Order: sequence, then C-alpha cells, then structure tokens
Amino acid sequence: MKKKNLIIFGTRPEAIKMAPLVKAFKEDTTFETYVCVTAQHREMLDQVLEFYEITPDFDLDLMKPNQNLYSLTADIITHLKPVLEEVKPDYVYVHGDTTTSTASGIAAFYSGAKVCHVEAGLRTHNRQYPFPEEFNRQLTGKIADYHFAPTTLSKDNLLRENVSEKNILVTGNTVIDALLFGIEKVNTTTFEDSEIKMLNETLDFSKKIVLVTGHRRENHGEGLLNICTALKEISAKNPDIQIVYPVHLNPNVKGPVHDLLGDEKNIILIAPLAYPAFIWLMEKSHSIITDSGGIQEEAPSLGKPVLVTRTTTERPEAVAEGTVILVGTNKDKIVEYTNQLLSNEQQYNAMSKLHNPYGDGKAAQKIVDYIKAL
Ligand code: UD1
Ligand code: UDP
Repeated sequence: MKKKNLIIFGTRPEAIKMAPLVKAFKEDTTFETYVCVTAQHREMLDQVLEFYEITPDFDLDLMKPNQNLYSLTADIITHLKPVLEEVKPDYVYVHGDTTTSTASGIAAFYSGAKVCHVEAGLRTHNRQYPFPEEFNRQLTGKIADYHFAPTTLSKDNLLRENVSEKNILVTGNTVIDALLFGIEKVNTTTFEDSEIKMLNETLDFSKKIVLVTGHRRENHGEGLLNICTALKEISAKNPDIQIVYPVHLNPNVKGPVHDLLGDEKNIILIAPLAYPAFIWLMEKSHSIITDSGGIQEEAPSLGKPVLVTRTTTERPEAVAEGTVILVGTNKDKIVEYTNQLLSNEQQYNAMSKLHNPYGDGKAAQKIVDYIKAL
C-alpha cells in the first residue's frame, strides 16, 4: 500500500513554500499525494498555483472579504472534515504560521493522520508579535508529529520545548527551492503580455528602485501610517529614486496605502505581483523595505539589503549575517536607514552580501526522503 499524503495550504507565502514539496512528492510514485487549498487567499493564491502549475484536488474556496480569525478558523476545520474522511491520509503537511496551517493541523490531528510541520521552530517568544502568527506556530508545533526546521536555530527552539530530536529534521527553507526554480523559469521563459513586460515599460531602470511591501496585522493602523509617512519623506528627499509598492489586497492595507500615497509622484503603487514578476523586480531593486517573512528569507539570496518594519523577528539568522536590519515602524528610523543605504555605498555593499542562511534549495527532497524512511 502506498503512503498517502495530503498537503494543505491557503495563502500566497504558503503556496510558494509548499510548491516544491508538492512537486517532489508528485514525482515520487511510491506515494499517493493530494493537494487541498483552503483559499484563505484567493487571487494571491491563484497567482502562485498558476506559476507552479498546481491543480488542487480540493479547493475549499473559503476567503471572504475582510475576513476575521474566528470564522476563518472555524470554517477551515469544518470544511476539512469531509476531505480528510475521503482521502484518509497517513500524513498531512501544513506550513508555517497562518490560520490555515494551525486550523488544518487541528483537523488533521482529529482525523488520526500524522501531522508534518514544514518551516517549524521559528520563534520570537512573544505571542503578540507577529500576531497571531507566533501563537499559531507554537500551537502547530504542539500538534505536529514531525518537525521540518529550516535552520539549526529553529531546531534548537524545538529541543528547548522538549520535542524529541528524532522527530526533527533540519532541511533549509523550501522558499529557497521555490526561489531557485522561479529564477530559472524567469530566465528561460519569454513572458509576452506579462507583468514583467508591463514593469519594463513603466519603470525607469536608470533610477534606483526601493521595493516596498507590508501587511502585518500588528502594523495595521498607526504602524502603517508611520511607514507611509516615512516613504513620503524618503521620496521627497530623493526625487531621483523610484519607490515601487505592490500593495497587499487586505482592505486594512490597501485602503490606507492608496489614501496616503496615491498622489505621490515617485511612489508607484501596483497590485500584488505574480511570483515571477516579483522575484524579477527584487533582482532589479536597489533595496527592500518590508515586514514580510518570506522576503526576509529570499532577499539575501539575491544580495539585496532589507529594512524590516518590525521590532522583532522569528528569522534572526539574516539579521546576524548583517543583510537584514530591524527598523520597526518608527518613521525617523525608516527614513534614516533608507537614506543611509541610498547614499552610503560602503554600508550598502556591506549589507548586500550574496549569502543565504536559509538553505541550499534541496529542502523538499530532504522531507520526502525522511518520510520515505519512516
Ligand atoms: C495572511 C496570514 C499571514 C500571512 C499573510 C501573507 C493569518 C492570520 N494571516 O494575512 O500570516 O503573512 O496572509 O500574505 O493567517 N485578500 C484578497 N485577496 C487575496 C488575499 C487577501 O482580497 O488573494 C483580502 C480579503 O479581503 C481577506 C483579507 O485580504 O479577507 C485578509 O486576508 P487574511 O488571509 O485573513 O489576512 P492577511 O493579512 O492576508
Ligand atoms: N510576493 C509576491 N508578489 C508580491 C509580493 C510578494 O509573489 O507582490 C512573494 C514574495 O516573493 C514571498 C511571498 O510573496 O515569497 C511573501 O508573502 P507575504 O509577504 O504575503 O507573506 P509572509 O511571507 O509575510 O507570510
């Protein structure tokens, strides 16, 4: 009898980071592998499914406009019951720290399947930051039978929580598998009529590009206002740069960002980019300002300095390496560090080291081999 896998994800970053695992398991015919998407995100999830050519076996289609954590959590658990009863998986794979991963972990545990946590063990040790992600990740760590930790630091976090060492594997982060595959595909494909063509026509690449993203719940409101005010100030002081901001579709982000920055001349607000266009633009950028988890992991592979608009991170490795600086949502600090990167070549060069502490791009295969050997 073949071992049966069910891989569950729902948001853009989970889809990007689970795509290499889907591919690796589907290529191994000793497994029967099914994919279920909760569609906690819709458009932003579909962009990734299209790029990685993944057709889910089950699509719960749960996203609602401006959804809340209570009903989303309940909906995921309830709607997964029939899927789990139909597939009867031996192993269920969940990723990271989203509502989809934790709610799916709970449902999978109820079904009796073994729960495999991909990107396990990252910690800020503060349940309010990031909210609710730190709590989600800790909870999924309690539910999981097997823990795939990206780094030895994340493994150590799990050991300190008394997870048995034999149930932890350090794999690197699958985001690097996804990135390497993505770069290869971008470099070998002609994207007619694509976002890349649109960016090529709209942006002036003789100017430095500062790429911005942001969506964290704890930054909604005041934090986001500070970030936008900082961007206005940076733009005013540096008329020769372009600030490019693909705006997250969360109405608590999209509304204020367009209200505050919609009329600025050298701030270009665009819709979320599909993954190939985004990594293409990252490569072309001078530096990045973001509160995203995934971008903190990708940017060091591309040698791009990152200013992180958070006061704490569960990804301290790149901070220690010196490619990432935590600037929080303090307006003056964001302005000061961005201006330094724009004007101080020595500091810029020191931060744009091409080194990545998050893996070698073979994380997905390591997970497949581990499960095979059980
Ligand atoms: C979610 C995750 C967060 C992750 C982020 C990645 C939780 C609690 N939050 O936050 O950990 O870092 O995704 O982006 O799991 N929307 C759309 N279309 C989309 C996606 C979102 O319209 O394709 C809008 C909808 O109105 C939706 C809202 O954004 O209700 C919020 O989506 P949600 O997944 O709840 O929160 P995020 O802020 O995206
Ligand atoms: N990303 C993308 N298009 C965009 C912005 C980001 O494809 O317009 C990718 C980015 O390369 C990274 C992931 O989305 O892999 C990060 O997702 P997000 O910031 O939404 O979530 P987080 O990583 O913070 O959970």
